[in-house]
Amino acid sequence: MSSPRGQFSSRIGFILAASGSAVGLGNIWGFPTNAAENGGGAFVLVYFLLAFCLAYPALMAELIIGRHTRANMVSALQIISPGKTTRLLGKLTGFYGIIVAALILSFYSIVAGWMLAYLLEPMVSLSGLPGLANWLTEFSAPRNLLFCAIFLIVTCAVISAGVEHGIEKWSCRLMPALLAMMIFLIVYVLTQPGAVDGLKLYLIPDFSRIGDPKLILSALGQAFFSLSLGVGTMLIYGSYLRPDDNLPAMGAIVTALDSSVAFLAGLLVLPAMFVARHQGVEIYTPQGALMAGPDLIFQTLPALFKTMAGGTVVALLFFTLLSIAALTSSISMLEVPVSYTLEQHVASRPMATWLSGAIVFAISAVIVMNFDTLFAAVVTLTTHYSQPLLGLMLCVFATWVWRRDRVLEEIRRGLPDVQHSLFWRIWPGYAKFCCPALILLVLAQSLMN
Ligand code: PFF
Repeated sequence: MSSPRGQFSSRIGFILAASGSAVGLGNIWGFPTNAAENGGGAFVLVYFLLAFCLAYPALMAELIIGRHTRANMVSALQIISPGKTTRLLGKLTGFYGIIVAALILSFYSIVAGWMLAYLLEPMVSLSGLPGLANWLTEFSAPRNLLFCAIFLIVTCAVISAGVEHGIEKWSCRLMPALLAMMIFLIVYVLTQPGAVDGLKLYLIPDFSRIGDPKLILSALGQAFFSLSLGVGTMLIYGSYLRPDDNLPAMGAIVTALDSSVAFLAGLLVLPAMFVARHQGVEIYTPQGALMAGPDLIFQTLPALFKTMAGGTVVALLFFTLLSIAALTSSISMLEVPVSYTLEQHVASRPMATWLSGAIVFAISAVIVMNFDTLFAAVVTLTTHYSQPLLGLMLCVFATWVWRRDRVLEEIRRGLPDVQHSLFWRIWPGYAKFCCPALILLVLAQSLMN
């Protein structure tokens, strides 16, 4: 069966799709809560440093390999490998990436399903159906399964339409909507009493925390998760880029957009917490730490919305924002197994999509039915360990396994002068030695913890 490879039709299409993958629950939920837990502004500073110094070089490795090989991760790593052993290692690494992408999507769609349920709740309440409204916001296996399935069906619908008419079209529609909603919400929250205390916590760095290993570890994990690194999503998106696109610039724009949206999310969530406090909502745990996990999103903020004038609209916008962010990320995750299946020529795009979606849903169902034992374990295994490890492998493949002159040739296609650029002076050595060493250091540290 033939399966012509898709391609982004424009630069802006790629930028919005790749930043759509990067901007997700990790930015709007993960970044502000990590900042709240780790000294506010101190975390923000370290995060920005790591995003550009460590995550950006790894992102470049993915984009360059992807654009050169025009293939999924399994084939791509084999194509750039000169020897038998490295080819086998490439194949195994590629499969590991696909499995991790499917596992991330399986927990991500459970959480995204919660966002959909909370998005419906204000409308159901207004329609005078309190029983249903309660069901939507109460934790239960049937609710989790139903909304996870709905979210995955929407994801499959976008992916089965292909690169240009699915991924690109929907990213171009949803990303501007996401930004507009976010700016509206920030302006609204910042005009409420109490917001300034949240702003101070967020923006004034506590320099004494800057060297804290826990802070550095959290910032690094957050940067890798946020830029969707390691599992082959950026490699695949790179493979849909046109040959004459300037890769270092594209990667830099995506990193900057992703970090900016994370920063904006902090301007929304932390001030909102302190507005809630002003209204009498508890924002500290009994241990004295700021609320961070699901309690923040599903209790503190909804409690705040209920006290606000126009709170129903604000709640609706907030959960729509989170659902959109989750969708543009989930489509990039599903594209990983789909592109692999397509390129093996065993199925058409719609069939590959619905089959992959069904497998992911089966994994989600197992997690939902064993939530207490599996959920946190899958999150930790995939995001704390596997993503950085895979990121390391991709840096190794791009700089140790692949020939340097070929890498240069690939970047040159869109940037003829690259040999004399700052990028080429720094990146090859940096991705070869510093990135793997730093990732190993962080992994070793987290294993010891
Ligand atoms: N970058 C997404 C977020 O910040 O929510 C999460 C993600 C997307 C991780 C795609 C991995 C991935 F392949």
